[in-house]
Amino acid sequence: MTEALPTTVPEGQAEPRARFLRACNQLPVDATPVWFMRQAGRYMPEYRAIRAKHTLLEIVDRPELAAEVTLQPVRALGVDAAILFADILLPVIPMGLGLEFAQGEGPVIHKPVRSLEAARQLRVVEAETDLGHVLETIRIVRRELPADVPLIGFCGGPYTVASYMVEGGATKDFRNTKRLMFSEPAAWHTLMRTVATSMENYLVAQVRAGAQAVQLFDSWVGQLSPSDYVDYVQPYSRQVLRAAMATGVPVIHFGTDTATLLRHMKDAGGTVIGLDWRIPLERGWGILGADVAVQGNLDPVSLLAPLPVLRARVDDVLQKAGGRPGHVFNLGHGILTHTLVDNVRAAVEMVHEWPLPNTSL
Ligand code: CP3
Repeated sequence: MTEALPTTVPEGQAEPRARFLRACNQLPVDATPVWFMRQAGRYMPEYRAIRAKHTLLEIVDRPELAAEVTLQPVRALGVDAAILFADILLPVIPMGLGLEFAQGEGPVIHKPVRSLEAARQLRVVEAETDLGHVLETIRIVRRELPADVPLIGFCGGPYTVASYMVEGGATKDFRNTKRLMFSEPAAWHTLMRTVATSMENYLVAQVRAGAQAVQLFDSWVGQLSPSDYVDYVQPYSRQVLRAAMATGVPVIHFGTDTATLLRHMKDAGGTVIGLDWRIPLERGWGILGADVAVQGNLDPVSLLAPLPVLRARVDDVLQKAGGRPGHVFNLGHGILTHTLVDNVRAAVEMVHEWPLPNTSL
């Protein structure tokens, strides 16, 4: 039996009211919507208080706690969207690879995948049974969020998730990942097929549970040349993005260091394309074309600067967006741990106070 999918636009209403959803759909807005990647986390005292008693994996295993952490930045910052509290690596747990977040080391995967045999043994993740706790978090958050603050679900991009599965953790040069890709293409494609189908199931299940937009975090895809992206990654990203877009909710396609990949990323799919700070926003939007929305792209380190410097940098991003419908303000990557909450709140106000041209609403 297939469940009915919730739509972005409520029945009987032509357009969504929430300014975040409107901007994703390139509709005029009363003020530029803003949220921050990694807006929940260690820079917030409320998060640290929960983290003092529970590990990251315990938090995401308990829907009540994960929902609370999801809501913390909404209350503290006044952002225009919530992002589900989870991690892009959760699906590797039901795949049987073992995941741990080691102190100071980041994620560690106990059984890295480095051969055709290992890739063949992986099973596709079924979200309802394998990641039901995450879907339950979505249901709780939806009940508690204000009506004008949509919930964003997410998963990792197939390349980024596969790179952790192959390396077994963080890496600088992605040498094991690229070695598998270049030297054992059958193993690479087997791995990517399983990851892409798992991510597709997971994202669609998140929308069914109530996520009103979704983001594909392909954080490390900028490690690839355009031709390697097209040959080894794009078909799998396309599979996930197209399935997510077919649900009707806006889909944000994000990566870093992607200046040379933007057209290929757009071609793979996305209602909104995420830009990092290395490319001026108007240049990135110019490459992508006017028929897609953009998200970004303040350098996260700007939030560590004195307020006048922060203001100038926020203004610069907004000026480059030029008040054109279809801009979602965000960082070019996640919030850093040393960020001051007051500065983040100040940035939200700066974005909301920015006068948009009359044509915007
Ligand atoms: O944005 C949000 O507020 C939602 C929550 C979220 C987390 N991880 C929680 C988390 C999201 C969207 C992610 C995505 C994620 N996870 C990405 C893609 C985005 C990016 O930053 O590039 C990646 C690559 C990961 C993998 C991951 N998870 C790493 C590399 C680390 C270690 C980094 C660190 O700060 O130690 C994590 C752990 C993690 N995921 C934390 C949080 C809040 C820190 C955990 C803690 O409290 O110890």
